Parts: sequence; C-alpha cells; structure tokens
Amino acid sequence: MTDQAPAPYAGPKRVLSGVQPTGDLHLGNYLGALVKFARLQHETQTFIFVADLHALTEWVDPKKLKSNVREITAAYLATGLDPKVATIFAQSAVPEHAELAWVFNCVARLGWLDRMTQFKDKAGKHKERSSVGLYTYPVLQAADILVYRATHVPVGEDQRQHLELTRDIAQKFNHDFEAPGFFPLPEALTQGPGARIMSLRDGSVKMSKSDPSDASRINLTDDADAIAQKVRKARTDADVLPEKVDDLAGRPEAQNLVGVYAALAGKTSQEVLDEYAGQGFGAFKPKLADLAVSVMGPIGGEMRRLLADPAEIDRILGAGAERARAVAAPVLADVKRIVGYWAG
Ligand code: TRP
Repeated sequence: MTDQAPAPYAGPKRVLSGVQPTGDLHLGNYLGALVKFARLQHETQTFIFVADLHALTEWVDPKKLKSNVREITAAYLATGLDPKVATIFAQSAVPEHAELAWVFNCVARLGWLDRMTQFKDKAGKHKERSSVGLYTYPVLQAADILVYRATHVPVGEDQRQHLELTRDIAQKFNHDFEAPGFFPLPEALTQGPGARIMSLRDGSVKMSKSDPSDASRINLTDDADAIAQKVRKARTDADVLPEKVDDLAGRPEAQNLVGVYAALAGKTSQEVLDEYAGQGFGAFKPKLADLAVSVMGPIGGEMRRLLADPAEIDRILGAGAERARAVAAPVLADVKRIVGYWAG
C-alpha cells in the first residue's frame, strides 16, 4: 500500500449534479433539477456542471456542442444559480473526470453495467452498434461525482440506478485498495414537488426532450404565447377537480396539471385542490397558464439575454473550471498514489 494512509472523506455535505447538453431543457428539468440546484447552493458547497463528455456517447454535431453547453449554462444562471456561490463549469474543462473514469472502468464489473436500464433503453435493439462510451456512461458519471467526493446528488428518479452503481464503485475502490472511507457513498436527492412532471399530451409518460411532439413539453426558451398555448391544449379529462389528492388517482393528466401548478406556486397539491375543487379545466387551465407564463416567461427572457453575450458565459465557465480543478486535482493525485501508478 501507500506510505501514508489516505484520509477518509470528513468534509461537509457536498452537492454535485450535471445536465447533458443535448436538446432543449423543459419544465420537467426546471422543476425536477434546476430549482433544486438554486436552492441547494445556499445550503452547502455545490458543484453544477454541463456534461459535454457524456454528450459524445451518442452522435452530436460538433458545430453545435459548444453552443449547447452555453445554453445549459445560461439556463443554470437564469434559474438562479449564482457563479459566486456555486461552482459552475463544463466537464470537458476538468480532465480529472476522464482520468478517474479510467480507474473506475477497472473497478466496475461488466455484470454491474449489464444491469443498467438506461443503457438498454438508449441502445435499444442495436446494442452492438452503440458506442462503448454509452455502455460505460455510468462509470464516467461515478467519476464526475466522486472526483469531488460529493455526498449528495440531486437528480431525477431515472438516475437512481446510476447512483447505486456509484456507491458500488466507491465501496469496491475503498475495499480493494484498502482505503477505508476514502470515497463517500453518495446519496441521490430525488424527492420534492417537481420530482415527476409528465407529458402534456399523455399523463402516463414523463415530459421529455426526446418526445417528438413539442406540445408535450414547455421548453425553457418558449415565449409567453407558446407557454400559454401549450397549457391550453394540454390533455385533460371531463371531470371537475376533486377535494382530496387521493381522488386524483386514475386521472394522470389531472394529477399532473395539479402537480405542475403546485410546484410552480410552491404549494402542495392539496393546497391547490383546496382552492380549485369543484372547478373544471375550463377554469383551471387559464390560471395555470398565467402562473406558468409568470414563472417560466422571465427565465426564457433571461436566457436569451445571457446568450447574446457568449464571452461572458465562457468567462463564468472558465472561472468555474479553475475552482473545480482545485478540488478535483488533489483527489485524483491521492487516487494515483493509492492505486500505485508510476506517476502517483
Ligand atoms: N446522467 C445524468 C442525466 O442524464 C447527467 C449526469 C452526468 C449527471 N453526470 C452526472 C448527473 C453526475 C448527476 C451527477 O441526467
């Protein structure tokens, strides 16, 4: 082993999350992730990045990748992340992620990755034609998290399995290299009002950037007219709103719209029903449209303003990358020493 036992992680709670720069962000991302990032930054050390290394696991136009990164960054800033408080950066600017991912590729077992449902979903029937990167995607994700020894990861429900894998990798690394507690076992933060926002066209599937129907989602960049129109056209049923949340069961569209209202207003679904019970969607939808426009409209406007000055966004990302590296580099140096690399 090493001359000096590496110190177990004993630092404060540390939050980390990232979003891939592929496609537009929507209401589901906003309520499920971005709002949480902005809140968490005031509670503890927070690292938020744009996952442009991950973007390469599927084909992405090289002419668009950089502007996609700037667009996600603009969304972070427009939804309240403050670069003076949180560390905001692009993954490709911190080489320590990829270097740690190599070590983790040698820690993770094929059997573990074979169980990953996101790979199966994305690869579909053509597993043999998928990139190797798509397969080891969750290993890079583990490196993203553990290179900062992050303890809490705000993500959607669909990322829970990747967080379990991250813990398995951390545990096996700590065990195999006799470095007890070197990596913390990070937890997913998936709860919260915006945890599951469904499509506006079908209350049984998640709101998603890959849905071919643009009317199924409210994009962060939609203007007020588009937002209002999408809410007006959202699928609903013919019943009035009930008095109790339990009575929304079996009415996925109604449940979703009440949930969206609640999340946007910072209320519980029950509080929304207390106000609207007995009313039909003819009355409820215009109120929801007004609320959605008042919350989402300014975000789109602010994103457009920020994107008009890409040099300023790049400056913020550059400063963030420097701060990120200052944390990641010593962790990676310890790892190199722990595994016995010549350069360690
Ligand atoms: N896989 C995540 C998603 O699709 C994005 C991501 C990459 C991420 N690395 C991460 C999220 C590290 C949290 C932590 O949403």
